[in-house]
Amino acid sequence: MFTIAHLSDVHLAPLPSPTMAELMGKRLSGYLSWHLNRHKIHKTHVLARITADIAAHKPDHIAFTGDLVNLALPAEFKAGAKWLKKLGNPRDVTMVPGNHDSYTPEGFAEGLKLLNPWMQGDAATAQPQFPFARYRRNIAIIGLCTGLPTPVFNASGTLGREQLERLAILLQQTRTRGFARVVMLHHPPAPGLAIPRKALTDAGDLVAVLAQHGAELVLYGHNHLHQSHVIESALGPVPCFGIPSASALPYPGHPPAAWTRYAINRTEGNWRITALTRSLNPARDRMETSREFTLGET
Ligand SMILES: [Fe+2]
Ligand SMILES: [Fe+2]
Repeated sequence: MFTIAHLSDVHLAPLPSPTMAELMGKRLSGYLSWHLNRHKIHKTHVLARITADIAAHKPDHIAFTGDLVNLALPAEFKAGAKWLKKLGNPRDVTMVPGNHDSYTPEGFAEGLKLLNPWMQGDAATAQPQFPFARYRRNIAIIGLCTGLPTPVFNASGTLGREQLERLAILLQQTRTRGFARVVMLHHPPAPGLAIPRKALTDAGDLVAVLAQHGAELVLYGHNHLHQSHVIESALGPVPCFGIPSASALPYPGHPPAAWTRYAINRTEGNWRITALTRSLNPARDRMETSREFTLGET
């Protein structure tokens, strides 16, 4: 059995004070949004509850689906790298970037350098290259990048043809080699799961790749919601799961912070995955099991 803890949308607090130069452009709207609203939602003590609970469950691997930071400030990425180091050895923690990590092109470029140890395939590269693949026992963890700098008030993502083509090849190869394929991306992986200005622009193309080559599990974040759906593929159903922000107190239309543990087993030639979701109970300030199920049986 191999266990994976999935968490997302850390939106690390506190927000460092940016310089005037750093605030130019898109960052200004994000900065105002943080100070007007978001700082009331994303809390350090909530994130600490989530990470302590994950550690207590001793997963084999941690899958973090992005939005580590808020404005892609250099100081945020430094704090983010420190936080990731505490979360676990980069060998055991995989991250893919979110739209907040790619808030500005220059910020994203700096961030990618600093966060490379967590976004690197087994074939080490000087900078993250997407998709990447990490092989842990009989599990292939495949990381995609949907984060790209976008205009103000736009939080969409795009994979692009090159990534989709390489993903198709990776899915095919890893399936032939007998791996359970766990695909990680930040944005919801199907059309209609997010409003257009926040959606993955080529979600339809991703669905086509997954429908052709299959995958055992797809993990994502971005919407700060518990979400689940299945993509029908030629090789069986592809279960896809979204998770709330790992640092969030409940806010209108959004549940409190949570994470999910997936236990992946090979039994009688088939992959069997059981899931256990742990959520913050804000009234009692403690973590509780909120959902437990076996994939394909619910
Ligand atoms: Fe987010
Ligand atoms: Fe996001």
